[in-house]
Order: sequence, then structure tokens, then C-alpha cells
Amino acid sequence: MEADIAVKVEDVKMCYNMPTERVDSIKEYIVKLLRGKLHYREFVALDGVSITIKRGETVGIVGLNGSGKSTLLKIISGILKPDRGNVEINGVISPLIELGAGFDFELTTRENIFLNGSVLGFDRNFMRARYDDILDFAELRPYEDVAIKNFSSGMVARLGFAIATLVKPDILIVDEILAVGDALFQQKCEKRIAELMSGGTTVIIVSHAIEQIERLCTKVLWIDKGKQIMLGDTATVCEKYKMLGQKRGELN
Ligand SMILES: Nc1ncnc2c1ncn2[C@@H]1O[C@H](COP(=O)(O)OP(=O)(O)OP(=O)(O)O)[C@@H](O)[C@H]1O
Ligand SMILES: [Mg+2]
Repeated sequence: MEADIAVKVEDVKMCYNMPTERVDSIKEYIVKLLRGKLHYREFVALDGVSITIKRGETVGIVGLNGSGKSTLLKIISGILKPDRGNVEINGVISPLIELGAGFDFELTTRENIFLNGSVLGFDRNFMRARYDDILDFAELRPYEDVAIKNFSSGMVARLGFAIATLVKPDILIVDEILAVGDALFQQKCEKRIAELMSGGTTVIIVSHAIEQIERLCTKVLWIDKGKQIMLGDTATVCEKYKMLGQKRGELN
């Protein structure tokens, strides 16, 4: 892959197996499994999606609920393996996809910083050097020794964002997480993303806040029901995407 490319996704397809009937217990599941009576329907969550992202680009992904955005981010992060197509990555990825992924809610803030660091592939010394900055950015110093099960979802999001960005990844992936923090913290996150961008980090953002995409991204991918609708510069794609929203509003 060329050196200036950070992410290359080629013609990706992803299917999920959806059970066609309800299974109420593990026992029932096993019985049905052994009798060969478990039936699945294949659900195509993504089909024919391709995107090439250059180093240092900030790309937005937009689409209605269930269109396949998080699925695509999971494929790029290597959490899911696509049924067809290719994914190539150049660099270390910090994926902020699900709230609290990489955390153990029984453990304290301090323990979770090191745990999440090791999930991302960084050792204790590396994390120790960034520990204070992470705690301060997340504004969680008073909660250093508190188990994070006691946190609000905004506090968990702040901790996740602080870790994911202060390790200075080559590629940062942010799925909706910005939406959980309050307005002040969102501003701080945007500033941090801008800093990473000017430092050369490649950023991929999924957000339903279209103004946020317009502010931050240079390029936008629009997917709908797993299909790629448009890929292009932010203004062009966002304008078309907003027109769809208006049409729907008129229908309701
Ligand atoms: N683990 C799974 N098993 C079965 N189906 C799944 C699974 N994860 C997602 N899906 C289905 O795949 C489709 C795409 O889901 P995905 O989470 O990628 O959408 P999304 O664009 O991120 O939506 P949202 O805007 O609501 O976050 C949905 O119809 C969903 O029901
Ligand atoms: Mg999603």
C-alpha cells in the first residue's frame, strides 16, 4: 500500500446471522442446535462499500440508524472480519466505538487507564508517562480511585476519549462518543481532534450531528441500508444528505 494511505477499504460485504425465531434459554438453544433446528436469516449489513483515506485526512460517515456505520468502523478496527472485500491499515488505531469498550466497570479509573492502554497495545511505562494528562483531560482526578461502575455515561465517555486521544494514535476512530459529553466537553474534544489532525493523525468520525461533521471533516461517506450512496467533499455530500432529511420531514 502506498505510504500516504492510512486506510483502504475495498468492496466490503458484511452479513450478520439473525435468528428467525425466539430462543428463551441456553438449554433451549442447545437442544435446538443439536436437533439442527436453529434457523438463521442472513442479514446484509454492508455491501459494496469502498473508501481510501489518506494520512492526516478527517473523514465523516453519515447515514440513518441501522445503515451500517458502526459495522464499517468495526471492520476498519479489525473487530469484525468482513465476508468479502479487503481492508488495509497503515498505523496504530485507537477505536472509540462502544461506550466503555476496553473497560472493566468493577475497576477504578486508575486501573482502567492501564487496562485500556494494554488493550490498545501500550505498556505500563508508556501509560504512566501519559497518566496525569489523561486524568486531567477527563477531569476525573477526584475519581482516581473510584470504580467506574459509579460513573455517569458522560464520565465514562470522557475517560475513553482522553485515553484514546492522549496516546496519539496514527488513526483515531470516533463513533458517536462525542454526543455523550456535555457541551463544554464536546468543545474540548473537538479542539483535541483538531490538534491531532494538525499533528497528522487520520480521523474517522460517525456522528448524527451534521454540523459537527461539517466543522471537522474534509471528506464524507454516506451509507444507507448498507449501500454506499455518496463519497465526496463535505459540502456536497452533507447538502444532499440534509435534503433527504428535509424530504422525510415533509412526508411526516
Ligand atoms: N451483532 C449483530 N448481529 C445482528 N445484526 C446486527 C449486529 N450488529 C448490527 N446488526 C444490524 O446491522 C445493521 C447495521 O447496524 P450498525 O450498528 O452498523 O448501524 P449504524 O449505522 O451504526 O446505526 P446507528 O446510527 O443506530 O448507530 C442494523 O440493521 C443492525 O440491526
Ligand atoms: Mg452506530
